[in-house]
Amino acid sequence: MPAPAAAGAAAASAAAAAAVAAAPLPASLAECGRAVLLTADPHTKAALSLAAWTAYTSGLLPVGTAEPLEGPPARPAKPELVPPRQVPSMEKAPLPKPVYQLHNLTHVELNAVDLAWDTVVRFSSCGLPEAFFADFARVAADESRHLSWCLQRLDELGYHYGCMVSHDLLWEGCQLSQHDLGARLAIVPMSQEARGLDAGDRLFKRLVGMGDNRTAAIVKQIATEERAHVAVGIAWFSAICDALGMETASTYQRLLLELCPRLLKGPFDDGERQAVGLERELYSTAMWDPALQQAAAEAIAAAERGHPPAKLGSPTAVAPLDDVGKLQQLASRLADMLDIEMAAARQGAP
Ligand SMILES: [Fe+2]
Ligand SMILES: [Fe+2]
Repeated sequence: MPAPAAAGAAAASAAAAAAVAAAPLPASLAECGRAVLLTADPHTKAALSLAAWTAYTSGLLPVGTAEPLEGPPARPAKPELVPPRQVPSMEKAPLPKPVYQLHNLTHVELNAVDLAWDTVVRFSSCGLPEAFFADFARVAADESRHLSWCLQRLDELGYHYGCMVSHDLLWEGCQLSQHDLGARLAIVPMSQEARGLDAGDRLFKRLVGMGDNRTAAIVKQIATEERAHVAVGIAWFSAICDALGMETASTYQRLLLELCPRLLKGPFDDGERQAVGLERELYSTAMWDPALQQAAAEAIAAAERGHPPAKLGSPTAVAPLDDVGKLQQLASRLADMLDIEMAAARQGAP
């Protein structure tokens, strides 16, 4: 996507790709994902991630299984990670405005690589259909290209990733959803990634207004590709709810309320969300029943004051990692559902 590359990032990216190509890859897709999570350098992280996807799609890697990380993924020494309130506003940051926006986006993309691989790794022992892992490894590959574009553009502008502080909010979403597959899908692709849909067009126009058409073009391409990531989350969340006899909208609503109510606060780009199948009844609290609406208003206000969400009763569990029986039941129902879908597709084929 980016045009002529500046020497620094292009050289770092080429060196990272050469180093990754020179070493044998781990023996499975899931183990590659774990290796990406353990890689701190952004260029190497992106190169390893793309090499894993290429090897998998060439039939050279099984999905396999891997141990999830207990702590956060490896990170470069910079940027320093600080609480969100300590990240300076664009007006107060020591960077030109387009660079400030691009640095934030680079940080989001780096986190997105790790979030997608964590989903592959963490749920690799659940017996889910291979299509699940293929979908999230593809998301990880997309995020790796996005990260590379951002690193390159920062370099073209004379800056680098780590030249200002960042926050760790995106990884918090991963931690909050690490025990339950349903929670992971509701929080990460259906909510955190949907934020990208809300912000994409605004950021594109802002960058054009600042006169940085080149960064704006990168943002536009990224925003277009992010649609598929949200759609993948919705498709799997709905399939899992169907397989377990749970109602999709109310399950999503309760998970968000219990785990991450700040993601229920707009502004939302309803058109973008609806275009990928994220219906307003799920995330727009104004459309919820009055009792839940009241609970949402209180939970969002508490989250803004920095308080954890209040307990609404027994926590909503969809497919918790420690419930082996339920996961086996889920895996077998999803496999049946996919078989039926494939058979229907074959019948409908000319
Ligand atoms: Fe991305
Ligand atoms: Fe994404």
